[in-house]
Amino acid sequence: MAKALKPDIAAQTRPETGTSYDVEAVRKRFPALRRMENGMQVAFLDGPGGSQAADTAIEAMANYLIRGSANVHGVFGTGVETDELLLRARAAMADFLGGQADEVAFGANMTTLTFALARAMAREWREGDEVVVTELDHRANVDPWISAIEDKGGTARWIKVDRERLTLDLSDLSTIINPKTKLVAVGLASNVVGTINDVKTIADAAHAVGAEVVVDAVHAAPHIFIDREALGADAILFSPYKAFGPHLGVLSIKADLYDRLETYKVLPQLEERPDKIETGTLNHEGIAGAEGAVKFIASLGEGATTRDRIRSAMEKIEEHENPLAEWVREKLRAIPGFTVYAAPQGVRKTPTIAFRVKGMTPRDVCLHALKKALYIASGDFYATTLALLLGIRASGSWVRAGLAPYTTREEVERLVASMEELAV
Ligand SMILES: Cc1ncc(COP(=O)(O)O)c(C=O)c1O
Repeated sequence: MAKALKPDIAAQTRPETGTSYDVEAVRKRFPALRRMENGMQVAFLDGPGGSQAADTAIEAMANYLIRGSANVHGVFGTGVETDELLLRARAAMADFLGGQADEVAFGANMTTLTFALARAMAREWREGDEVVVTELDHRANVDPWISAIEDKGGTARWIKVDRERLTLDLSDLSTIINPKTKLVAVGLASNVVGTINDVKTIADAAHAVGAEVVVDAVHAAPHIFIDREALGADAILFSPYKAFGPHLGVLSIKADLYDRLETYKVLPQLEERPDKIETGTLNHEGIAGAEGAVKFIASLGEGATTRDRIRSAMEKIEEHENPLAEWVREKLRAIPGFTVYAAPQGVRKTPTIAFRVKGMTPRDVCLHALKKALYIASGDFYATTLALLLGIRASGSWVRAGLAPYTTREEVERLVASMEELAV
């Protein structure tokens, strides 16, 4: 697990990271990190918007196209190789998320896959049924469910966010999740404030009333080890472009739900999983890249199986990222005029830091950071409900800095130094 944070972390002049982690070796795996801006090396701190791609992901994509691409089920070389690629990539996604290879579907992105899943699941829903969404989630895990239940004459209920703690308020769970509930949609981690949710408790409450649970792991995926079964998820989604791969979406659905699903499909499409939810020709080179991204992650860890190596790698990544992120949060909090949005100490978080600066729009803060080649982003990042509830959406929502396995001490120090220039 991640190393315990030192209580005096704010007093440290330099951030500390896990000792067994060679960030320079990791950086060599990301060609984009050579990018310069204003004569300085770019610090890519918008991982939550999309990470940079690892060498194995890039090579796999290029090699697929260089060796010759094809559609599936061809009797010729490239067709056979494409079928083999799909099998291997599904297995790699199962290694990453848990579950089985034939429970994995690919699609354009998480949002598109969630709409397809919602439409299919809703075929079993009736008037008066309910779905449950959360105030902390990205709207990609909210609106597909609300649209689908409203089409059926049902309603959505919300798990509220505690606006002080920036954690989900689970105190009223037994009213919100009730015998009318068909589906509970919850994010594993907030893509703005980084809070990692207690998905298991929510999933247990859902299963107790016979509801299904869909987990959005898009933001969590590059930061923590994911185990679909341990989370109690019936379906889980992530996007490889946030986890060192290409732009693509991945959905893993438990076999019993997958088999039951009446997906919207074209006639010749296979009735069986995994194909039944995958419409049209898939992004084969992207799928090759997603397999390459998982190879990169596994290469950072140790263990007998790929899944063991992924678990070990994610633990190392957490050990590297979390102390750096906590150091940044503490330093930013200490700057006059800065407000950091984060759950209290002790709540598990991703290394994603949301803040605002008094008297400045979040966008202008980003433009200031850019002078030092710091790539940070502004906006509501589709965590629109939270931005509205906090009353900050009209004024530009947040500035967000997201750390990644390739983030260095020098980069976070540069970020803090640049932000200190904005002290009010
Ligand atoms: C937590 C979370 N969920 C869902 C999404 C949407 O993912 P995609 O762009 O793959 O549709 C994002 C993207 O920012 C996200 O951060």
